[in-house]
Formats: sequence, structure tokens, C-alpha cells
Amino acid sequence: MITGAGGQLGRALQERFAGDDVVALSREQWDVASPPSNDQLQGAVDLVLHAAAWTDVDGAEADPQGASAINVGGTANVAELGAPLVAFSTDYVFDGRKREPYVESDAPNPLSAYGRSKLLGEAAAGPDAWVVRTSWLFGTTGHNFVRTMLRLADERDEVSVVDDQRGCPTYVGHLTAAVHDLVGSDAERGLWHVAAGGDCTWADFAEAIFEEAGVDCRVCRITTEELGRPAPRPAYGVLRSERAGAAALPHWREGLRACLAAIAAGRNDHPK
Ligand SMILES: NC(=O)c1ccc[n+]([C@@H]2O[C@H](COP(=O)([O-])OP(=O)(O)OC[C@H]3O[C@@H](n4cnc5c(N)ncnc54)[C@H](OP(=O)(O)O)[C@@H]3O)[C@@H](O)[C@H]2O)c1
Repeated sequence: MITGAGGQLGRALQERFAGDDVVALSREQWDVASPPSNDQLQGAVDLVLHAAAWTDVDGAEADPQGASAINVGGTANVAELGAPLVAFSTDYVFDGRKREPYVESDAPNPLSAYGRSKLLGEAAAGPDAWVVRTSWLFGTTGHNFVRTMLRLADERDEVSVVDDQRGCPTYVGHLTAAVHDLVGSDAERGLWHVAAGGDCTWADFAEAIFEEAGVDCRVCRITTEELGRPAPRPAYGVLRSERAGAAALPHWREGLRACLAAIAAGRNDHPK
């Protein structure tokens, strides 16, 4: 079962697990803020890939209860199915003060309502879940930084992008391959950090997008303070795993190339 099947990760998971007997549920088919139905509880589910989430980081500041209802309550509802579960979490559970890669044993300290709801969601997934923390996801569908930059480059000669937040932009296609291996190898349950190799700032990432896409658009490097978004973000969110057998994902730039190639091949709904 895949929850949040309409989202960017949900779609990529459907593609990756296409060889299996998959029930992919969009929000319309199961709003996870509601408990599972009796049919769902009685059905034989071998694995749940829980990709449904409140992902509006700034919106969560204005409605923390709304974010928690989905990210905490929703995850508890999904865990109620009693099936092996993969829950997805984020580098935003950290405060970013460490300045060297965060590993699974590092203490979380979320700065935002979204980060707090995801951290509580990790607990709601239960001790038997695989909790996969990842970061800065992008792919060919949905709302993500690559698609936003490509759209802006159609409209402008210059974009302002923050240069004081560092992380690992992770291609969903690479993440889903690692998740497929994780559950396929029946790896130990618990926390797993799964993010692209390398790291960069959002401004570095924007420049790389324009370079790789052959688009003529300048990047004006600004600070988080200048951007003035409602939710605080960690200035440093590089994730690495300290666990034996952890997947080493390709470098983010390789993920970017794979994503742009998939976009060029038309496997997306980018308006260009
Ligand atoms: N995006 C990132 O950079 C990033 C980074 C680290 C971790 N993550 C985590 O990765 C997971 C997937 O994120 P994503 O990037 O695929 O986000 P996304 O594109 O926003 O997808 C989330 C999906 O969940 C659905 N959803 C929201 N509320 C729901 C509810 N009550 N019941 C059922 N479905 C609901 C959304 O539907 P609607 O569109 O109808 O709202 C959407 O289809 C999340 O757990 C997120 O926290 C994301």
C-alpha cells in the first residue's frame, strides 16, 4: 500500500514498486487523518509506504494542529494497519547547528512546527517501522525546487536564492531505489538517513539546474533573513548514515541530471 500516492514521492514509489501488487491511495481514496476502514484493517497488506504528509513548511506555522493531525495522527492511523511500515521524515527535525553531517544517533531539535510534527510522526510510526529521513526532494512531478527554478527561468533573467542553508538535494528516483533495497533486504527497523551524496546551498543548486538544463538565468545569492519566510529552517541539514549496510546514494548532481533527462523525455507534467 502506498499512501499519498498523488505526491511526488508517492508517484515515484508507484513507479519503483510497479512490479509488485500495489494499492496506491491518493488523499481522496484515504485521508489518513481518519482511521483505517474495517476493510483496510482486515485486508492483508504486506508493506505500507507512507508518503502522505502535510509538507507545507510555512503553512504549518499558521496551523500547527492541522500539520500534526496529518503528520502525527495520520502516521498513527497508518501504523494501526499493523503491517510493516516505511515512514518518511526529514532533516528539518534537526536545528542545523552541528555543521557536520547529521547521523541517526544525533539528537533532534526541530526549529519549525513542520519539523516538530515530523519528529512526533516518527514516534507515531512505532518502533517496528523503518523511518527514512531524507532531504530536499525533487523529481519530475509535483512541487519541487527543480521544477520551480525551470518555471522561473522561463519568466525572468535572474532569480534570488538563499545561500546560507546547506543540504543534500535528493532525487526521488534514487531515494525510491534505496527504499526498495532497504525493505527487500529486510534491513533492521528504526531510523535510516537516506540522502544524496555531496551537499550544497539552494543557490548552488539553482546554478547547477540552470547549467545542466542549458538555461540562461542568473542566480542572486541572498540570505534566509532577506527571503523572510515564516518558518525557520536549519542552516545545515546534511544527512549521512552511521548504520552498517546503509545505501550510498549517487551525488545530488547525478540526481539532477537524471531528473532533467526524465523531464526532457516527457515523463512529467512540467508546463514547458
Ligand atoms: N519534499 C521534500 O523536500 C521532503 C524532504 C524530506 C522529507 N520529505 C517527506 O517525504 C514525504 C513525501 O513528501 P513529498 O515531497 O512527496 O510531498 P508532496 O508532494 O506534498 O506529497 C504529499 C502527498 O500527501 C498528500 N496528503 C496530504 N494530506 C493528506 C492526508 N490527510 N491524507 C492523505 N494524503 C494526504 C498530499 O495530497 P494533496 O496534494 O492533496 O495535499 C500529497 O499528495 C513526506 O513525508 C515529507 O515530509 C519531503
